[in-house]
Amino acid sequence: MTKSWPLIVAGAAILIVLFFASTAGKKPPAIPRDSLHAGHKTNEACLSCHAPGKQAPLKDTHPPKEQCVVCHKQAK
Ligand code: HEC
Ligand code: HEC
Repeated sequence: MTKSWPLIVAGAAILIVLFFASTAGKKPPAIPRDSLHAGHKTNEACLSCHAPGKQAPLKDTHPPKEQCVVCHKQAK
């Protein structure tokens, strides 16, 4: 068990690098300030519209889709 930690650290490092590489050079658009978006803050809420087959699906090329608000901030 004590020998597995370098592997875990390496795995985490790779994930972090991939995460930033996949978003490099692109700025996430702000969340529009309209009635559609008022009061929504959780992933589940976003996905009720921004999922395949729903009202406003994300592009296939969209970066990782976990935790929308980490990248998308509310428009001022
Ligand atoms: C009630 C349905 C609905 C919900 C819930 C919703 N959206 Fe949207 N969203 C839309 C629609 C429709 C559009 C496109 C029209 C517009 O700009 O309002 C849009 C547009 C956007 C845009 C702008 C895209 C662009 O090209 O500028 C972003 C960013 C976005 N949504 C993020 C989110 C996030 C993050 C959440 C959760 C906090 C969320 N949305 C929740 C329906 C929804
Ligand atoms: C890792 C950061 C990141 C996360 C997490 C993220 N987005 Fe995005 N999003 C972006 C970037 C960057 C773009 C611009 C993509 C482009 O220009 O091709 C974008 C674009 C969008 C757009 C515009 C249409 C499209 O598909 O390009 C919408 C709507 C959107 N995101 C909603 C969401 C929702 C809803 C979630 C959560 C389920 C989410 N995003 C999670 C970074 C992120």
